[in-house]
Amino acid sequence: MTACGKPLEVCMQGLGRLEYRGYDSAGVALAAPGMDLVAVRKKAGRLDNLKADLARSPLPDATVGIGHTRWATNGEPSDTNAHPHVSADGKIAIIHNGIIENASKLKMDLQSEGYVFSSGTDTEVAAKLLGKVANTIIEETGKPDLFEALRRVARMLTGAFTILAVDCRQPDIVVGARHDSPLVVGLGEGENFLGSDVAAFVAYTKHAMEIGQDQAVCISGDQVIVTDFNGNPVKDSKRFTVDWDASAAEKGGWPSFMDKEIHEDPEAVANTLLGRFDDQGDIVLDEVHIGLDVFRQVDKIIVVACGTASYAGMVAKYAIEHWVRIPVEVELAHEFRYRDPILTPRTLVVAISQSGETMDTLMALRHAREQGSRVLAICNTQGASIPRESDAVLYTHAGPEIAVASTKAFVAQIVAAYLLGLYLAQVKGTMYRDEIRHILEQLKDMPQKIQWVLDNQAGNVEQAAKQMVSAHSFLFLGRHVGYPVALEGALKLKEIAYTFTEGFAAGELKHGPIALVDAGEPVVVIVPSARGRNILHNKVISGIEEVKARGAFTIAVAELGDPDVEQYADVVFWRPVCPTLLSPLVDVVPLQLFAMDMAMLKGYDVDKPRNLAKSVTVE
Ligand code: G6P
Repeated sequence: MTACGKPLEVCMQGLGRLEYRGYDSAGVALAAPGMDLVAVRKKAGRLDNLKADLARSPLPDATVGIGHTRWATNGEPSDTNAHPHVSADGKIAIIHNGIIENASKLKMDLQSEGYVFSSGTDTEVAAKLLGKVANTIIEETGKPDLFEALRRVARMLTGAFTILAVDCRQPDIVVGARHDSPLVVGLGEGENFLGSDVAAFVAYTKHAMEIGQDQAVCISGDQVIVTDFNGNPVKDSKRFTVDWDASAAEKGGWPSFMDKEIHEDPEAVANTLLGRFDDQGDIVLDEVHIGLDVFRQVDKIIVVACGTASYAGMVAKYAIEHWVRIPVEVELAHEFRYRDPILTPRTLVVAISQSGETMDTLMALRHAREQGSRVLAICNTQGASIPRESDAVLYTHAGPEIAVASTKAFVAQIVAAYLLGLYLAQVKGTMYRDEIRHILEQLKDMPQKIQWVLDNQAGNVEQAAKQMVSAHSFLFLGRHVGYPVALEGALKLKEIAYTFTEGFAAGELKHGPIALVDAGEPVVVIVPSARGRNILHNKVISGIEEVKARGAFTIAVAELGDPDVEQYADVVFWRPVCPTLLSPLVDVVPLQLFAMDMAMLKGYDVDKPRNLAKSVTVE
């Protein structure tokens, strides 16, 4: 991943920053002039295992290096299956993200030629193949050419891959190739870097360059060369400056990244609103390069996303349909792609993704574009694949999110989707300007309301977590915008506290889930405000009564001063008064804290839950 004077140090700090992408094993490979073989060290488990091993027996000094943290797809986590993998002669080492789909076929071919494999990974197949091709080039031309060898290999692989390689015969370069997997270049002075995202090198340089689909790159200390897989030069690679500091991706005194990031919820909302208005207070989405005419003609929105991002999309559906009067469908990206969805040039597909690298979402948006629809990405990561492949992007400015369970990105995604909804209402004239401005003013008040929850409800939440720590399961219910909030609260608890939790629409209770309620069963209920049209409030309160009558222990998220809630709920997490459509921005906060407290009380690693990875770059 780096061609500079201190490659091991750079790799290890980069892996530390990228560990959220996978943490079941880690490894590094180094090359330097005079080495007969690449120097490789790899270890199963967290990065600390590798660090300890390197401290016990250090690797030699080097000029280039590559490093990898793994989230197992092919082959269980073990020292052997960890990356880097080496060529048969040990001269080349590679690391790989993605899944090589024709690996078994290639492996059989190589085995028939006498190649022997020690791991169960597709990556080792690519390593052996690269070694073979590199040697063929030496036979053909008399000199090594790792860059050309990798391009030839890239043309032979199917599936998804980003591959980086080093060769001890060319210890001044690192080469890379990408197809359906992320790769960015960091442009330093006298040193250059490659990484899955900018976090890998932001401590060294904020100057970055995108590598496009089916492109290969060769970096040395003073040069970056980009070509397509056939070797044709690529001259127009997009450069950008990272808009956050390395310190933003550090814990800064907080016990966990998740704790820090929940406390950044207010800032994430405020920053996502920043710079989106002109002097008259109208919304201007400068970075959105879709013409006004196209926006005016949009007659349907389909949100595609996974996990937390999909729940942000569900929240936005309620608001956008209300404001813009066009249907909004929300679909899990992996389902959308394979069901022949109805897409027209007037359909706006909104791909929501914190990382911008979720393969399921990327595949969904590609499908939408092939069908002639426009795609707008709502994304938190500059230069990532999803914004790069969309027609337009609306960045959430939540800052880097490191904890695997998404928190501040969720509130920022809701705000960005709301801005899009209000923009469409403005362009299509479905709302009066005054109405739009009024909502924008209310949105601008939300950071301080979230702050109020953080300042005044955290103790309450912690106490409830202590009371509930041995509960085996939870039910979460909500109606209207409270429904996706219930789903998100439930997901957080599953992800990091490993508790069986079901989130569902409160109205559905009587149609089945109430059978799950037994004495002591904890039920978390998002209660809508009693102000204004209070039909929903009363119905949700009835739901609480019904589960309570069957012995449930109820936790309510409700508006300050709600008299009914005090009467029926065992515990209340209070929300300050705010408009119903904006309430998810505050209601999710105690649920994020609750999941974190539960996980901490159970002694789990809240930032790195088992089996998960933050960017799921495989389908
Ligand atoms: C993974 C993560 C989830 C996340 C989802 C979508 O499954 O574990 O926390 O919500 O991906 O991620 P994205 O980066 O596309 O928002």
